[in-house]
Amino acid sequence: MKTLADIRSAFFGFYRERGHTIIPSASLVPQNDPTTLFTGSGMQPLVPYLLGKDHPEGKRLANSQRSFRAEDVEEVGDNRHTTFFEMLGNWSLGDYFKKEQLPFIFSFLVDEVGLKSEKLYVTVFAGDEANNLPKDTESAEIWKHLFAEKGIDAVEIEMGSEADGARLGMRGGRIFYYDAKKNWWSRAGVPANMPGGEPGGPDSEVFYDFGTEHDPKFGENCHPNCDCGRFMEIGNSVFMQYQKTAGGFAFLPKKNVDFGGGLERIAAAANNNPDVFATDVFADAIALLEKFSGKQYADSRYQKSFRVIADHVRAALFMIADGVRPSNTEQGYVLRRLLRRASQHVMKLGLEDKDKEDSMLVRSAIIFMEKYASAYPELATEEMYQTVTDTIWEEEKQFARILTDGIKILDKAMADSGRSPITVRDVAHNSDRIIADPIISAGFAFELVTTRGLPRELVEEYAKEKGYIINYGAEELDQLLEQHKNLSRSGAEQKFKGGLADTSEATTRLHTAHHLLLKGLQIVLGDHVKQRGSNITSERLRIDFSHPEKMTDEQKKEVERIVNERIKEHLPMIRSTMPKEEAEKLNAQHEFGAKYPDVVSVYSLGPVGATEENPQFDRAFSIEFCGGPHVSNTEEIEKGGTFKIQKEEAVAAGVRRIKGILAH
Ligand code: ALA
Repeated sequence: MKTLADIRSAFFGFYRERGHTIIPSASLVPQNDPTTLFTGSGMQPLVPYLLGKDHPEGKRLANSQRSFRAEDVEEVGDNRHTTFFEMLGNWSLGDYFKKEQLPFIFSFLVDEVGLKSEKLYVTVFAGDEANNLPKDTESAEIWKHLFAEKGIDAVEIEMGSEADGARLGMRGGRIFYYDAKKNWWSRAGVPANMPGGEPGGPDSEVFYDFGTEHDPKFGENCHPNCDCGRFMEIGNSVFMQYQKTAGGFAFLPKKNVDFGGGLERIAAAANNNPDVFATDVFADAIALLEKFSGKQYADSRYQKSFRVIADHVRAALFMIADGVRPSNTEQGYVLRRLLRRASQHVMKLGLEDKDKEDSMLVRSAIIFMEKYASAYPELATEEMYQTVTDTIWEEEKQFARILTDGIKILDKAMADSGRSPITVRDVAHNSDRIIADPIISAGFAFELVTTRGLPRELVEEYAKEKGYIINYGAEELDQLLEQHKNLSRSGAEQKFKGGLADTSEATTRLHTAHHLLLKGLQIVLGDHVKQRGSNITSERLRIDFSHPEKMTDEQKKEVERIVNERIKEHLPMIRSTMPKEEAEKLNAQHEFGAKYPDVVSVYSLGPVGATEENPQFDRAFSIEFCGGPHVSNTEEIEKGGTFKIQKEEAVAAGVRRIKGILAH
């Protein structure tokens, strides 16, 4: 069997011989790149060089970039999706182009990896008239020669879209022209106004034919871009010559090559087995799980669980090694999700991780650390061993606690909800008769998933166990959860603009003063004071709040005094993110009627105290749900002057409005 390590080192050797410098993999967490949470391709850390900057290591580079694609988390379970993967890459930064690149990669795959050329099929760009982008006949011509050298008459075929492919099929072709959806590459989701313009270009992909039977579920006919599993894309040469600008496509200062090939996939092709989980790196972890669970990987009932555990633990290991820790936001949230999903699948295999030494996740991680130690020596240190095993085990323990608490909540909620069987007295027969079964509705399940953080599968399985009937189709709950996600997202965006006109220094100062003011009003007028609206410009702040009567002059003076005193105390402003429930427990202020996401951002003003979980909340003066921005210390408000209430008036029954300013 060809191992990943064999192929990785063959790749380095091959490109080194051809004048390339082997550069190290960048971190999984992009540095100075806010566009994505994780490095998802080899080109990402090299964008500045593809745009024209000189690379210190020269014009010919190669590497194996550790990559993670969060959008594939749910896809893991079939034979080819993994979240983490290594992308073998070679680059020409304004040096060679198509006529060198295609022979390079063909020779690597055929002569080094040993793939049979008749198993390879390629695609090229069909052109795009609307954008004035030409058809890539040049690449097709090069491929034709390369195949001819191996005695293959490579027939060119017009394909078009993926749907055309399913309609038209292979037609004896070897080189296929597909449209821009398939054969144009640039990063997805990058804002159009990215400085310099997002680089991209036509690409040419290589597919390996596993020769499996076509599955008509994926379309009438098979073709290289069909998803039935017969063909697997194993490499992509992007001819990065363009950049996207507001006015269309312009030429980059230099023509570049960006080649990316999934190491795991190339290994699968090398072994002529379409299952990437059958490659050497996964084998030992899967064997461990088989041994302890007594279940077989080949058993279709459990195969997904084996794959999810293996994939997620490997990804988690590399994330932890790159400094990510489980949390409720950003990279940490993704890591948390991976570990919790893996943990659920351990249970599906009938296993229970009771202590660290026996934890399946910890033990699998150790196996992966050993597997990758020679390619990534940083994984082989005692310190890393401790960090990885501790981090995984802590998260497993915490998840176990949530599940135990969750079950209690479920039990209670079920009991409280009156969803026990409804019975009526049957007088004629002098007995009770059940007229309705206990039922779990989509709404009820939705509530438990979103407010309690319980995994949906757990809710459903547990309810069934207790004899409840799941009274909804899977799509109904899917839909609710999807809507909720979208709402939370837009809610967060709106809320986080927080009634701020802009984010200038003056506006930011007044925003922090606004938090002080709300708390000041509560101290002076009472706890019934709740924010009902706000609007802040660089000139003044405005707050609407619940209070039944006009404020007296003394009350206004007292509020001003409290606010100004806090400003002079130079209190730090600290931002944290936490589940909404936790913030509610801290009694964080939020605006009535505003929609907040499950994970909220909270700002607290005050001395840093000493509670273990949230040290900043000890004796904090004010805590609010808020997206910022804020000054980092009330000292900065002083620069704007002293706080003054300019006007206090009624806006509606029981709602007052204050306009306030900072003035010297
Ligand atoms: N950047 C190209 C890809 O990710 C090679 O497919």
